[in-house]
Amino acid sequence: MSNSSIDSLQNETRVFPPSPEFAANSVADAGLYARAAENRLEFWAEQARDLHWHKPFTETLDWSNPPFATWFADGQINVAYNCLDRHVLAGNGDRVAFHWEGEPGDTRTVTYAELTAEVKKVANVLLSLGIEQGDRVAIYLPVIPEAVIAMLAVARIGAVHSVVFGGFSAESIRSRVDDASAKLVITADGGWRKGKVFPLKAAVDDALSAPGSSVEHVLVVKRGENAVDWTDGRDLWWHDQVEAAEPEHEAEAFDAENPLFILYTSGTTGKPKGILHTSGGYLTQAAFTHKNVFDLHPETDVYWCTADVGWITGHSYVVYGPLANGATQVLYEGTPDTPHPGRWWEIIEKYKVSIFYTAPTAIRSFMKLGRQIPQKFDLSSLRLLGSVGEPINPEAWIWYRDVIGAGTTPIVDTWWQTETGAIMISALPGITGAKPGSAQVPMPGIKIDILSEDGTRVDPPHGGLLVVSEPWPSMLRGIWGDPDRYQETYWSKFSAIEGNKYFAGDGAHVDADGDIWLLGRVDDVMNVSGHRLSTAEIESALVANPIVAEAAVVGAADEATGQAVVAFVILKSNQADAQTADEASALLRAHVAKTIGAIARPREIFIVAELPKTRSGKIMRRLLQDVAEGREIGDTTTLADTSVMQIISDRLK
Ligand code: WT7
Repeated sequence: MSNSSIDSLQNETRVFPPSPEFAANSVADAGLYARAAENRLEFWAEQARDLHWHKPFTETLDWSNPPFATWFADGQINVAYNCLDRHVLAGNGDRVAFHWEGEPGDTRTVTYAELTAEVKKVANVLLSLGIEQGDRVAIYLPVIPEAVIAMLAVARIGAVHSVVFGGFSAESIRSRVDDASAKLVITADGGWRKGKVFPLKAAVDDALSAPGSSVEHVLVVKRGENAVDWTDGRDLWWHDQVEAAEPEHEAEAFDAENPLFILYTSGTTGKPKGILHTSGGYLTQAAFTHKNVFDLHPETDVYWCTADVGWITGHSYVVYGPLANGATQVLYEGTPDTPHPGRWWEIIEKYKVSIFYTAPTAIRSFMKLGRQIPQKFDLSSLRLLGSVGEPINPEAWIWYRDVIGAGTTPIVDTWWQTETGAIMISALPGITGAKPGSAQVPMPGIKIDILSEDGTRVDPPHGGLLVVSEPWPSMLRGIWGDPDRYQETYWSKFSAIEGNKYFAGDGAHVDADGDIWLLGRVDDVMNVSGHRLSTAEIESALVANPIVAEAAVVGAADEATGQAVVAFVILKSNQADAQTADEASALLRAHVAKTIGAIARPREIFIVAELPKTRSGKIMRRLLQDVAEGREIGDTTTLADTSVMQIISDRLK
């Protein structure tokens, strides 16, 4: 975040209490905090018992071997049953699960009964393809009902899904498929994005082209109607398989700690981490937070979370949390501005959305377009707004409330991570007065502390490092195939002090009211439009290009996207004359987009002759960030060659 937005965060003192009507009908009651404080484990057990257990648990938490936790371990559960059959058996089969809207304007309405029937058939397809409990299935799909159906079908048979965001490249698919030794990939011919069909199957073909892949079959949904190449024996059409499948499938019971999914996210090194989540604890916290943070009244609300199912927000707050709670949702395939900049508001008007959950970067881009666009639509159905992904600056918060929320809706700013699985810090909308820019308070049953580097608690108003001080039900259970990296990344920073502290990688401070303000990442992880990107991963993509000798990447403050990727590149000596700096920079921006995905494309690439390094050879990114953000360059005394920064900044003027 830029310094000016942090200043404006810290000067914010307004509080917006919930209206008496909202408070009176609120799902959450203030007693939640008291019950959680009195007996934290019993509180979570009570939440878990809201789910259907094939075999009830007697044990809540086992933390005898930290940081490896188990929750509800002697219980047995079927996650998909909780999201599907349970609602149908309760007589809610006719309730709409999804109002799906395709980008070109085609629509589908899917009830809970229909969703259940589809998932049963696809579960049978998976079994017929030899997928068993514990096998990994990669999913690379657009936001269409089949994405949700595929995830639930994998969960239903106790297998493990690894969803790869549809914007990622063939190479990103390959590394994820290989890391988890996936047996099956579920994809589509193509999906709609910005008015065009973008190919997906082609990227999967490319990803699987190297010999020795673990993948036995590719199941292909027809969506884009674009031409595809076909590998006989490996590739199967989804519709052929589903049509031929048995309709009945009984959900089997699996252990509460049965792995549910792996989701890859960027860390401080070049290799993405496969974050592992399991079943009972994950579903407990996803469902509990979804119901209470979003004040869900499943009979009347229409809920819309705009996240792609390829991100953790889509997993927990499009698929598992809302479906466990029997919510009616909107699911939208495309981009917010296709075919016109009011598309999202048109969808809210059309389906009478009452709860809306999106990211600050989207809000800021709408702010830039002006309030006259949303004002053309009837948004009066909205009664609650949510924000996630990065700190929301008070200006955007106020605009969101005034222009989208008619100046009356509560806003919940939810802090959490791929690793935490579910919301950890947020207001409860009927209870907590809302403070623009602050994520506010830990959820009931969650213990958060702000510590200094040496592990002592930091008092208001000073800033420090955010830690989670007690294990929580939806916590990651590890990094796929790498227990040491799990321990090292999240649990080693404060291992010298008593207790096990989960280090989140975020800076934060607490104000005099006890409200938490997030201040952005403290590591080499960038947050671009609410998506996590690693400086090291983009650097390794850059140096893999034959024209590059060295590269350094920083996240620079950006008004629209929060942070933007800015790279500093030294070309190989034989390249310096082969092309102009502009040509090299354009070529390398495209190269990064192709290697990782369009979201990683640098905003700027500066071709430089040197990089600022310490005497031990470490690149001083802080100084490059000063340049990228147009600031006065900070302390250069620890540089091996103190003139380097002068040379770089002179060159770029
Ligand atoms: C990182 C996690 C959780 C789903 C989306 C991103 C940042 C997330 C907030 C918020 C301030 C936030 C943090 C966190 N972040 N939500 N409400 N206020 N910062 O998931 O890709 O795992 O990224 O996003 O820096 O560590 P993710």
